[in-house]
Amino acid sequence: MARRKQIYEGKAKVLFEGPEPGTLVQYFKDDATAFNNKKRGTITGKGVLNNRISEYLMTKLGEIGVPTHFVRRLNMREQLVREVEIIPLEVVVRNVAAGGLSQRFGIPEGTALPRTIVEYCYKNDELGDPMVSEEHITAFGWATIQDLDEMISLTLRINDFLTGLFLGIGIRLVDFKIEFGRLWTGDDMQIVLADEISPDSCRLWDVKTNEKMDKDRFRRDLGNVEEAYQEVARRLGILPEGGPRDLKGPNTLQ
Ligand code: TMP
Ligand code: ASP
Repeated sequence: MARRKQIYEGKAKVLFEGPEPGTLVQYFKDDATAFNNKKRGTITGKGVLNNRISEYLMTKLGEIGVPTHFVRRLNMREQLVREVEIIPLEVVVRNVAAGGLSQRFGIPEGTALPRTIVEYCYKNDELGDPMVSEEHITAFGWATIQDLDEMISLTLRINDFLTGLFLGIGIRLVDFKIEFGRLWTGDDMQIVLADEISPDSCRLWDVKTNEKMDKDRFRRDLGNVEEAYQEVARRLGILPEGGPRDLKGPNTLQ
């Protein structure tokens, strides 16, 4: 296959030009970073698992009517997605106190929140993704009030659905981060879920033991990082065909 044009390289994924106009190929790397790139490492097989896990969750969300950028998985590390104009916001949803929220407000990790809290961060690595309010978002033109209404309504549906889905496999969805994009069809614009949903972007705790099954194992040097991602995939019923030995997947970029 001819070498494809690279459009963008992020910390955990690479985007290539897709086979048809308006599509992109999203390639999942094993690279892991934390604390705005200060900590770097590799989680063997992560790209293969996140490709699968994100495919599964986006497909399920699509089935309940949440529009997403996902089209189909192409191979172990790649999926075809619709090209969208990414809204430069990280939408963080919190059900249980952890991470940044626990630090900021001195609330012990694991405290159930009285209601779901949605936060926004401005996607900008140089600035360290600062938290912003709706005032900043609309004043600086990153999204309109209508965009925000749509994003919040989708976000709450996504949270309800994923909370139940994970609870069904013995996992508490503590918090997660999602991103949205604008999908243009002529003059029509639709806000769709983009990027990925995976143990890189969620906090997932075992319901019984509270064991962490997500990127905090890497951030906090807790060990068994690969195993935790694998266990999430196993419980979702989507371990790659060849089982854990298959996780490395093809190394070559086409
Ligand atoms: P935080 O507690 O560090 O703010 O993270 C909240 C959630 O967002 C957690 O599930 C991890 C996820 N997240 C990302 O996906 N990317 C990021 O850059 C950060 C800071 C958090
Ligand atoms: N992904 C972010 C980074 O590389 C932060 C994180 O997930 O902890 O810095």
